[in-house]
Amino acid sequence: MTDETTMATVHRLVAAHAQQPGALLPLLHAVQEALEHVPDAAVPAIAEGLNLSRAEVHGVITYYHHFRRTPPGRHVLQVCRAESCQAMGADALWAHACSRLGMPEGGTRADGAVTLEPVYCLGLCAMSPAVALDEAPRARMSAPRLDALLHEVGA
Ligand code: FES
Repeated sequence: MTDETTMATVHRLVAAHAQQPGALLPLLHAVQEALEHVPDAAVPAIAEGLNLSRAEVHGVITYYHHFRRTPPGRHVLQVCRAESCQAMGADALWAHACSRLGMPEGGTRADGAVTLEPVYCLGLCAMSPAVALDEAPRARMSAPRLDALLHEVGA
């Protein structure tokens, strides 16, 4: 997607949400759904469209883990790090995923194959620990099962 197309999408979504009360979060979700991230270049247009400061918009984007500021890799692995999963070994699973993918802090691998990010509850607490690969949730995850999943997508 070119920068022009990206900004055209942002402007279209800003216009669609501008009159909605409490529009910022729904707008950010819509932008991320359309572009797979919320580019920094979108912040001024969003701020202006919603009559907010750039700092307010930036603050919300950086506060919520859900919003990405850079495009994700071809596959996105989310490891749940919320309470129930933590009690069932999510920290070790996260560490395993980081080590397996060679990214000590998560993020997007240099080859663009995969993005590893934390998520805070996937609604599978009774079957912890949970992960989602390309938005498909997987319950009762283990290190070997995670390796098999990543192998399937070539990561
Ligand atoms: S805490 Fe991990 S799925 Fe709910």
